Amino acid sequence: METRLIAATSEGIAEAAGVLRAGGLVAMPTETVYGLAGDARDDRAVARIYAAKNRPSFNPLIVHLPDIEAVGRYAVLTPEARALAVAFWPGPLTMVLPLREGAGLSPLVTAGLPTVAVRVPAHPVARELLQSAGLPVAAPSANPSGRVSPTRAAHVMAGLAGRIEAVLDGGACAVGVESTILGLDGPPALLRPGGVTVEAIEAVLGGPLVLPGDPAQPKAPGQLASHYAPQARVRLNATEALPGEVLVGFGAVAGDLSLSESGDLVEAAARLFHLLREADARAGPGGAIAFAPVPGTGLGRAINDRLRRAAAPRP
Ligand code: TXA
Ligand code: MG
Repeated sequence: METRLIAATSEGIAEAAGVLRAGGLVAMPTETVYGLAGDARDDRAVARIYAAKNRPSFNPLIVHLPDIEAVGRYAVLTPEARALAVAFWPGPLTMVLPLREGAGLSPLVTAGLPTVAVRVPAHPVARELLQSAGLPVAAPSANPSGRVSPTRAAHVMAGLAGRIEAVLDGGACAVGVESTILGLDGPPALLRPGGVTVEAIEAVLGGPLVLPGDPAQPKAPGQLASHYAPQARVRLNATEALPGEVLVGFGAVAGDLSLSESGDLVEAAARLFHLLREADARAGPGGAIAFAPVPGTGLGRAINDRLRRAAAPRP
C-alpha cells in the first residue's frame, strides 16, 4: 500500500474524512502527538490499527470526539467528568468513564473493559476532521508499538509508511507529550501524566488525585515499563556526557542538544520526542544518549515519565 501524505487544507481534511468513512486509516495531527485514526465502530478498521502498530490487543484505545455532547453518546459523564470537561476540553485530557450500554463501539477499542477512554482534542485539523467524518475515532499514537511517539508527519511516515492509507500533515504538535489520562470510574486517579498538569486538575476537583504508586491506584492496562524506546541506550539525570554519549541538556546543563536552554517545561515537552529521535540518529547504532535532570513539577511529571520509560530495560 502506498501511504498518501495529504496537506491539511479543507480539501485535504475532507479527503481524509472520506478515507475514515470508508474504513481506512489516517494519521491525524492533534495538539499532543499524531494519532492513528480509524472508525471506532468498525471491527476491521480497529483491528488494522492494532496490526499497523503491532500493538498488543489487550491495550485499549482512546476514542476521539468533536464535543462533550458526542462524548455523552458513548460514555456516562459523571459530575466530576463534566467539571473537568468544562475546564480542559477541547484539550490534552483523556477521561476513562463507564461505557454506555449499546454505544456501538467495537469491543476491540475497549479491549472488552466496561470503561471507555474519551478525549476531545484541541488541534483545529483534528477538530475539523472529527466534525467532517461524523464518527467516533479510535486513535492511539501513530507509532509502532513501544517506539517514540510522533510529533511531526515525517515521524509518522518513518514508522508507518506502507501500512496505512494516509497521513494528514498538520505540522509540528504544540504540546508534544500525550494527553493526561484520568480514571473516573472510581475516585479520580492519574493513570498517565500528560499535557494537563496534576496541579491544574486538582485545582478543578478541589482535592487530591490518586497517584501512581498509591495502593488505591487502579492498574492501567498497557502502561509498560519500557516504551518510547529509541535504538540507543538512555541514561538519566546526567550533568555531563560520558565518552561517546549524546547529551541532551535542560536549563543550566548545556548539551549537544537541549530540551530548553531557558529551562522552560512547556518548550521541553514540545521538543521531547523530536529530540529523542534526533539524539538517536546522532548516537548511531549501539550508541548512547544521556538526559539532563528535568524538574518533576507541572509538565515535568509527564516528561520524566516518558524519559523513565525510554530508559527502562527493554524486553
Ligand atoms: O494524546 C494522546 O492521548 C494521543 C493522541 C493521539 O490523542 N493518544 C494516545 O493513545 O496516546 P495511546 O493509545 O498511545 O495511549 C492510550 C492509553 C493506553 O495506555 C491505554 O492503556 C489507555 O490509554 N486506556 C485506553 N482505554 C482505557 C481504559 N478503558 N481504561 C484504562 N486505560 C485505558
Ligand atoms: Mg502511545
